[in-house]
Amino acid sequence: MASGDSFYVTTPIFYVNDVPHIGHAYTEVAADVLARWHRQAGDDTWLLTGTDEHGQKILRTATANNVTPKQWADQLVETAWKPLLETVDIANDDFIRTTDARHEEGVAAFIQQLQDDGHIYEGEYEGYYCVGCEEYKSRDELIETETGDYAGELVCAIHSRPVEILKEKNYFFRMSDFGQQLLDLYESQPDFVQPESVRNEIIQFVKQGLEDLSISRSTFDWGVQVPWDPTHVIYVWFDALLNYVTAVGYGDPAHDGPTSDGEFRRRWPATHIVGKDIARFHAVIWPAMLMAAGLPVPHRVFGHGWLLVGGEKMSKSKLTGIAPQQITEVFGSDAFRYYFLRAIAFGQDGSFSWEDLSARYQAELANGFGNLASRVVAMVTRYFDGVVPAACEYLDADLAIQRTVAVAAATADAAIDRLAIHESIAAVWTIVDELNGYITEQEPWVLAKERATRDRLSTVLYTASEGLRALAVLLSPVLPKATTTLWDALGAPAGLGALTAQPIRAAGDWGQLPAGSTVTPLTGLFPRIEETVGAVSGAA
Ligand code: MSP
Repeated sequence: MASGDSFYVTTPIFYVNDVPHIGHAYTEVAADVLARWHRQAGDDTWLLTGTDEHGQKILRTATANNVTPKQWADQLVETAWKPLLETVDIANDDFIRTTDARHEEGVAAFIQQLQDDGHIYEGEYEGYYCVGCEEYKSRDELIETETGDYAGELVCAIHSRPVEILKEKNYFFRMSDFGQQLLDLYESQPDFVQPESVRNEIIQFVKQGLEDLSISRSTFDWGVQVPWDPTHVIYVWFDALLNYVTAVGYGDPAHDGPTSDGEFRRRWPATHIVGKDIARFHAVIWPAMLMAAGLPVPHRVFGHGWLLVGGEKMSKSKLTGIAPQQITEVFGSDAFRYYFLRAIAFGQDGSFSWEDLSARYQAELANGFGNLASRVVAMVTRYFDGVVPAACEYLDADLAIQRTVAVAAATADAAIDRLAIHESIAAVWTIVDELNGYITEQEPWVLAKERATRDRLSTVLYTASEGLRALAVLLSPVLPKATTTLWDALGAPAGLGALTAQPIRAAGDWGQLPAGSTVTPLTGLFPRIEETVGAVSGAA
């Protein structure tokens, strides 16, 4: 994309019935890395996250805890969900709560418009509902268990808990009108739903024929009221999906609404990062709602895989959730971010293990990147009194490093454009590997022994320092803390300014670190983890 274009990226808004686990943090981190990359490329970037606070699930949890749903939500947002952003170092631009007035007003305006335009009718819903998913279910989505607590009952395939049978008067959205338009969208915009596996599943689902969607509930009142009928509240998913537009000004007169040059026009449409379990809401219901309202559909919907425990989706309800702090307190937030985005191909499921995290931390972050950085800085300190030397004549080995840096930067940017975050990191890591090999081969400690090889030593250490400059810029979206420390240690701020101000799409251009920059010693970019893996996993 061209620098300056709008890049609006969203995470799902999280249910506040419980505290976050690492699956939730994974979605946050992925969206944050994309946002940081685009921000540093000079794109007009906006990262939105937030909380989903209406619906029966929250109402029941609050009631069970003897507080109102709003009190419950307020408490969880302040003590758990906003702190999660600190824990994994998320630089979000906004945080929306579905109980915000800006959201509730936008939702009411949206549904009123659909009602006025004839997309809504009154009917009766009779069927299954999973409160865990907050979703109407068809019989073929349920499993009949033979053993255990719920033997003989129909349970939700995701939550393994019995579903409820609803029979109520509801308002329905004529979603079935949009089946063909949706199929045309998937056809004409093949990257609208990603990855391919999720796209295929969505197309299959829509081809079977869409039913109209029940979009209100009348047996409880925790939600946004249907504007023309106060005995109904709006179905929690219909309400929640609208956060992506209400957060950027839809329905808000202060922003002049969607038809002006206001905030909505500037930001929308968005790239939605969601778990694959909720891709259907985002790739079917959501674009159909927008089509009905005459608004542009999202730019892309990416359904990432699940973090698995024992082969199953990690979940609090199954008591398999691991709190993000358990990892960050030992390894730090940078390692958390790196590990999940590097070890799991974005779009596929991944099994978390303390052993794998610990092994990658040691081999890739501490030994691979951290050691490289501290060795180069230490050699500049020792052989050149801490002043980065100017390069003399470049030989083939040096030019090979320059090519590696240029190719890695271009490949990484193209991968980010395709949302292939793991490929982007792998491309950048070729610089780490090549530089380590270069230093081993060039043996600067041998060059330092003779006056005659002083020029060669200058070129080698300039090449290594400039390679670190490129690494700091290219890794800053993933490792914001470590790269800032490295940037300072390279003395780069004096000549180049702040790390986050470095244009990432130009990171591959050679020769940016000024010779004469003053380095400062660098220790413990990724400190040794003293605990044994056994002791760490014992903490879980
Ligand atoms: N509130 C809805 C989303 C509304 S968006 C308009 C919701 N909330 S959630 O809290 O249950 O889940 C939020 C996200 O966390 C989803 O994308 C879900 O896929 C993700 N994850 C929950 N468990 C996960 C794993 N074990 N692994 C990876 N992601 C997981 O759904």
